[in-house]
Amino acid sequence: MRATATAHPNIALVKYWGKRDGGRNLPAVGSLSITLDGMRTRTAVEFDPALQSDEVTLNGRSDGGTAARVTACLDLLRDRAGRATRARVTSANDFPTGAGLASSASGFAALAVAADRSLGLGLSLADLAEVARIGSGSAPRSLFGGFALLRNEPDGGVRCEPWLAAADWPLRVVVAITATGPKATSSRDGMAASRDSSPLYREWVRSHDADLAAGMAAVRQRDFAALAAVAERSCLKMHAVMFTTEPALIYWEPATVDCLQEIRKLRQRGTPVFFTIDAGPQVKAICEPAAVATVSATLAAVPGVSRVIECGLGSGARIADD
Ligand code: DP6
Repeated sequence: MRATATAHPNIALVKYWGKRDGGRNLPAVGSLSITLDGMRTRTAVEFDPALQSDEVTLNGRSDGGTAARVTACLDLLRDRAGRATRARVTSANDFPTGAGLASSASGFAALAVAADRSLGLGLSLADLAEVARIGSGSAPRSLFGGFALLRNEPDGGVRCEPWLAAADWPLRVVVAITATGPKATSSRDGMAASRDSSPLYREWVRSHDADLAAGMAAVRQRDFAALAAVAERSCLKMHAVMFTTEPALIYWEPATVDCLQEIRKLRQRGTPVFFTIDAGPQVKAICEPAAVATVSATLAAVPGVSRVIECGLGSGARIADD
């Protein structure tokens, strides 16, 4: 009744922002991501008949804020197992939590894998993706290593699958940390506000399929320039939606903009690198392996960048070895 799993965060190159009507955390748009190896979540799940409710500890502290989402995921698994037993969930990240570094993605992917094992269910990856998605829409992508695709199916379902193995295109990512505090508005609240108030939201959804198709093709063809173009376009469109949400969602810090400008300058001078930014102020620079040293040194020198984290492409969520 106890198991531990690890998972890495992922970052989307073609972004997810917005949900469909009808609950169940169904995304309005698909997404294409890479799973990172330089940061890790470790989650232990223990089902204990003595517990009255699920208990969640995140980074050593009781976490009431996430408990409802954890319970929603565990309820799906309890239904499958035909049990009502509550669980003790202990999770820790070796990187800043809730700061635009996709800690919810790695957290809910690890939770699904660990809870499935502790209940002895042995669910398929498709079923685990459904469980992880209830926790966080980006979490199914962390079940997979390398490049992962999440897309809406014509029948209304969601499918998450590996798109290209890490070894087939071993890009590198330099994460520039510009602030480590938790974000002011969660992605979930932000998405609801964008849908309700941004005049750009409908166009974001309408034009998204073309971006996803372009991203999928660029990855399959290992076309760095094409991937750079679609990834930066998707990121900036998403932030345009955020900026035009009421009240405005401005996740950027001054250093965020400075990093973005440095990355553009590097690329103009011939360095293969592009940026993406999520619902937080950190900048992720994706580059070819030979460019890592230059990209790291450039971003580390930007005033306001407290540190840079270098990552390769990682593996999917899995049961911990010990
Ligand atoms: C900006 O998956 O955190 O990182 O489904 O409400 O939990 P919920 O949202 P979440 O949103 C991620 C949004 C993003 C873009 C992305 O990862 O695709």
